[in-house]
Amino acid sequence: MRATPESLTVTTGAGAATFSPEQLRAMRDEFQRFLMEYGFGMREVETKIGILRDEFQTMHDYNPIEHVSSRVKSADSIVEKVVRKGVEPDLDSIRRHITDIAGVRVTCSFVKDAYRLFDLLTQQDDITVLEVKDYIAHPKANGYKSLHAIVQIPVFLSSGRVEVTVEVQFRTIAMDFWASLEHKIYYKYDGDVPAGLLAELTDAAGTAAELDARMERLHRELHGEPGASPRLTAV
Ligand code: GTP
Ligand code: MG
Repeated sequence: MRATPESLTVTTGAGAATFSPEQLRAMRDEFQRFLMEYGFGMREVETKIGILRDEFQTMHDYNPIEHVSSRVKSADSIVEKVVRKGVEPDLDSIRRHITDIAGVRVTCSFVKDAYRLFDLLTQQDDITVLEVKDYIAHPKANGYKSLHAIVQIPVFLSSGRVEVTVEVQFRTIAMDFWASLEHKIYYKYDGDVPAGLLAELTDAAGTAAELDARMERLHRELHGEPGASPRLTAV
C-alpha cells in the first residue's frame, strides 16, 4: 500500500488499484452506511424481543427471557469470512451471502420458551424468515444446541425502506453456558481440540440438556405450563 497526499495505491493478488481521496471517502461512507443498516436491523429485532418480554411480564407475570445480547460483526471478521467463504467482495454479494453480520442472541429460561419466542418473533408479518436451523431438535455432533433463524426485517431510512438480514439465536441458559465454554476452548486450541477434551465437552452437553429437562419439569410442577397464567385457587 502506497499513499501520497493525492492518492492511495493498493496492491493485491489481482493487481494494483489507485484511489483518489474522493473515491476513498465515498468507499468509507458506503461501508459505514452498510454497517449502520445492520445496526438498525439489530435494534428493530431487539425492540420486538423487548416488547414480547414486557408484555409477558405484564400479562402473565412471567419473564421467559434471561438475557439478550447483540452485536454487529467487526469489519475484520466480515473480511475474514468473505475470504473464507470465497464470497465476491462487493457489498451486494456480501449482503446476500454473509447472513450473520447482525446477530441477536436470546437466552431463555426453558427450552419451551426458546421455541415460543422463536414462534412469536418469526410469525410477525413484517418479518421474512430466510432460514431456520434447529440445533435443539438436531444438535451438532459436538453437542451444540440452539435454535437459529435468519430473518429479514424492514428498516425505514430517510432514503426509504431497506430489508436487513439478522441472525437470531434462541437458547437456554444451560445451552449458552456450554456454547460459551466450547467457544473459548475452540479458540484456545485454534480449532484443534484434543480428542479427550472434545469427548468431555460432548458429554457435558448431554448433562446440560438433562439439567434443562429437569428444571423444566420442576418448573411445571410448581406453576403449571411455563408462562401459563397463574391458576386461580378457590378460597
Ligand atoms: P458460521 O460460519 O460460524 O456462521 O456457521 P454457519 O454459517 O454454518 O452457521 P451455523 O448456524 O452452523 O452457526 C452460526 C453461529 O452459531 C455461529 O457463528 C456460532 O455463534 C453458533 N455456533 C454454531 N455452531 C457452534 C458450535 O459448535 N459451538 C459454538 N460455541 N457455537 C456455535
Ligand atoms: Mg456466525
